[in-house]
Amino acid sequence: MYFSTPALLLATLSLTPTLISAHGKVAAVSGDAGGNGTAIGILGGIVPGPGKNRVTEVDTTVFGKTNIATNGLGKTQKNGKNTVAMVAGTMDQSGATLPQVSDGGSIQGTFHVVTTDGAGPVQAMIDTTGTGQFADGIKANVVTDVPGNKGNIRPSGKVPRGLSYVALRARNLVARASNVNMDFPIDITVPAGTTCTGTVAGQQNVCFMKIANSNRAGPFGGVIAFQMAGGAVGNTTTATGAAGAAGAAGAAGAAGAAGAAVGSASAKGVKAGKGATAKRFVA
Ligand SMILES: *[C@@H]1O[C@H](CO)[C@@H](O)[C@H](O)[C@H]1NC(C)=O
Ligand SMILES: *[C@@H]1O[C@H](CO)[C@@H](O)[C@H](O)[C@H]1NC(C)=O
Repeated sequence: MYFSTPALLLATLSLTPTLISAHGKVAAVSGDAGGNGTAIGILGGIVPGPGKNRVTEVDTTVFGKTNIATNGLGKTQKNGKNTVAMVAGTMDQSGATLPQVSDGGSIQGTFHVVTTDGAGPVQAMIDTTGTGQFADGIKANVVTDVPGNKGNIRPSGKVPRGLSYVALRARNLVARASNVNMDFPIDITVPAGTTCTGTVAGQQNVCFMKIANSNRAGPFGGVIAFQMAGGAVGNTTTATGAAGAAGAAGAAGAAGAAGAAVGSASAKGVKAGKGATAKRFVA
């Protein structure tokens, strides 16, 4: 889309819906000890991969601040503010056992790049309380990252450098981000000794992990829930007094089989047709 005058450009931007939309999402995750999950707010297969921004971006999370250590669960265009209770919806789609992580283990999964501003690199932060308190969280090491330059990627999946990055970023901000529709594997280590204390969607000993890029147009990503396998025995210091916690540990053991299914999600998505929708503008 080209604009002949600045006035027309401004007029067009002011017509753009001010609703947030997001462009890179955490589609599926598992733990090294099993389980299966997806990010809060994800709607699953009903959201198409290719197509116009307004149909492909509805269920991916946008966060307000590029600082990963910021509280809150973000929001999606379709359902607004993400809530702790929405973890139940992720379990409806992904199974009754949340991703299970062994001590010093990891979360693996698929990050879906929807449009050109939804790419990597990503950062990850763990909130052991399962409430969204990421300001007090633990930084997690991203071992396998999503490609990108400050959150931007070309429609081809190639990482833009130098001037081509500047041009792409400028284009993303004033016009619209082009459809990318590709999956990339992520692998994030959970520090040894992590103990989860949250109670979420009927589950005990739940942690949250926020995974997000640093694109100033978003940032974009998602929040997932997970448990430490054998939950209650994590850190004896912090586990002391958590009398009810031991009950949940049994469920963790059964998670083995489900985990393997997601681990292999490394296939690249098929390049899709170009969408032609005005992109929203986030100041
Ligand atoms: C795991 O979760 C993903 C994301 O919700 C879902 O697409 C997939 O079907 C689930 N796999 C299994 C084996 O339940
Ligand atoms: C358990 O947590 C306490 C308090 O945070 C910490 O001092 C201790 O080092 C932890 N122990 C292990 C084994 O991680």
